[in-house]
Amino acid sequence: MTYSFDQKAIIVTGAAGGLGAELATQLAAQGGRLGLVSRREDRLRELTERIKVAGGEAHFALADVSDRGQVSGAIEQLRDRLGQVDMLIANAGVGDPDSLAPFATDTFERLMRVNWFGLIYAIESVLPEMMERGDGYLVAVSSLRAYRGLPGFAGYGASKAAINKFMEGLRVELSEQGIDVTTLCPGFIRTAMTEGKDFPKPWMMEPEVAARRMIRALTRKRKVYNFPWQLTVMTRLGQVMPDWVIRRMAPRDRSGT
Ligand SMILES: NC(=O)c1ccc[n+]([C@@H]2O[C@H](COP(=O)([O-])OP(=O)(O)OC[C@H]3O[C@@H](n4cnc5c(N)ncnc54)[C@H](OP(=O)(O)O)[C@@H]3O)[C@@H](O)[C@H]2O)c1
Repeated sequence: MTYSFDQKAIIVTGAAGGLGAELATQLAAQGGRLGLVSRREDRLRELTERIKVAGGEAHFALADVSDRGQVSGAIEQLRDRLGQVDMLIANAGVGDPDSLAPFATDTFERLMRVNWFGLIYAIESVLPEMMERGDGYLVAVSSLRAYRGLPGFAGYGASKAAINKFMEGLRVELSEQGIDVTTLCPGFIRTAMTEGKDFPKPWMMEPEVAARRMIRALTRKRKVYNFPWQLTVMTRLGQVMPDWVIRRMAPRDRSGT
């Protein structure tokens, strides 16, 4: 049976722009009741209004997802408006480039705090109620970059690889408790994260298209959804390619996606 979003209370982190805003818009159009979390109030307010004008339901709460207290506070506020949370889409992320000289420990910490701990804090805020009632759906937005360490993307790739492994473990553990888990691993999407980055972005997708594909994967409760298939094949090949080939293909401009 396919999963329906109709009347489901869905929290999306990183909803102020890019993929998160597009996911929220499309899910609201399918009857989802949206709780939007991000840092930029003007963007969240505008999106909430747009969803309401289109006949949907949306509420927002501000949080920096790297702050545990802010995340739990924001989700608590949204729970007051939405009631029990049916689905969490942990989408907030940053794609800061690596630097090895000087060694960018601050950057690596930020990548993990936002991409990895941001996901952990959001799950912490919704999982207990899901476990209590034996129902719920946890979704992580990861990346095809999770699969192969690449020059310039080591920190970003590590943060996404952590997400993939974590979600895999949760999926196995929670499957007997009525809680579904999906990891979404897209290739390149035209958003602020890729804007102005001067390197090849093969099979780049518009956010509308990426969101539509992700939502279709969620209706089918895909465990892991890697897309587009062409870049997935390249990524799989990359996992077995020797380092010298990867070095030649690596982009000069270092920016994560
Ligand atoms: N674009 C790509 O090619 C691509 C490819 C694979 C995976 N992804 C993943 O897709 C997800 C969405 O990225 P995007 O492409 O839509 O990038 P984006 O346009 O830069 O959007 C990032 C979103 O995350 C939010 N965000 C960033 N830092 C945050 C923080 N500390 N606390 C709360 N929210 C934060 C931003 O809102 P605020 O600034 O208002 O907080 C924004 O809504 C990310 O997890 C990214 O890694 C993107």
